[in-house]
Amino acid sequence: MSETNTYSIRVEPTKQSRLSQVDFNNLKFGQIMSDHMLVANYDNGSWTSVSIVPYGDLTVSPSMSALHYGQAIFEGIKGYKFADGTVSIFRPDRNWERFNKSAKRLQMPEVPEEIFIDGLRELLNVDRDWVPSVDGTSLYIRPFMFGTEAALGVHPSASYQFIVITCPVGAYYSKPISLKVETFYTRAAEGGVGFSKNAGNYALSLYPTQLANEEGYDQIMWTDAAEHKYIEEAGTANLIFRIGDTIITPHGDTILHGVTRRTIIELAEKWGYKAEQRKVSVQELIDGIKDGSVSEAFAAGTAATITHISKIGFNGQDYDLPPVEGREFSNKVLDYLNQLRYGKIEDPFGWNF
Ligand code: COI
Repeated sequence: MSETNTYSIRVEPTKQSRLSQVDFNNLKFGQIMSDHMLVANYDNGSWTSVSIVPYGDLTVSPSMSALHYGQAIFEGIKGYKFADGTVSIFRPDRNWERFNKSAKRLQMPEVPEEIFIDGLRELLNVDRDWVPSVDGTSLYIRPFMFGTEAALGVHPSASYQFIVITCPVGAYYSKPISLKVETFYTRAAEGGVGFSKNAGNYALSLYPTQLANEEGYDQIMWTDAAEHKYIEEAGTANLIFRIGDTIITPHGDTILHGVTRRTIIELAEKWGYKAEQRKVSVQELIDGIKDGSVSEAFAAGTAATITHISKIGFNGQDYDLPPVEGREFSNKVLDYLNQLRYGKIEDPFGWNF
């Protein structure tokens, strides 16, 4: 913890570690949780307790507000292990910032740095043996917060729990994905909650995603609410394209402001590519695929990392993207970030925490 930390974090170690049951060479995403979790409680205007306790079930009231009215937000962060055993977390300050923006939009309390960032550090210290070291694996960190007040009136909950759980993971997507352009269902509208990472944004995606799956696509490409003309994001990640010589990503408050997306745009600029955050119409993308100017398309997110897009379905027609091997920019980013996150090269940006 930082020296000025006003919250003392109580640690109750597990009596029975589950670490020996984990096959680190065969990790699925989000199925085995590490031994401990961080739990902080908020009641009537202040954070009252912070502790690291053995991972386990929670007891909640059936009238708990989050279950009824959806005051529930979360983040996704990753921790990596270097060859010398150092454990590093990738840009948690950005996730902390975004978490508090989500909290504000859903009328929830902000979580102070001493709980979010120092809590992550303490939790990963306790569970450092859970951070995998096999290439392509990491410790997925899931901070989340929900309203706990037992009351059915529609008002902001008076009490909250902030919890961090972690799990060793491999790839979220093991191969390039196909996307269906969604032209009927809507993820987010101007003035809504599209930029926030709240549970409801994922719940609403499940039915349209199932329909897309039934048509043979892996995921949805969301479009704007007003006209279904402009590209927003994929169900679980942001979208980035290379059109001509420019790296382009959709922009605005109806999409999640991803940390991986931001990282990639910063890298593109540093490496001398032209990078733009702007509206991209579906038609611009389809025309670019047809005339060959779209040379790369990928999903970017903490869980997804960089996942190449193989095919885009629009109005009953499929459009194939060029072979993955020739995708110069995204392969270069993937390679660079892998090296940086595992401590194989210097970190000139201070992204490894
Ligand atoms: C992440 O990338 O961390 C996410 O939260 C996406 C998803 C697994 C819901």
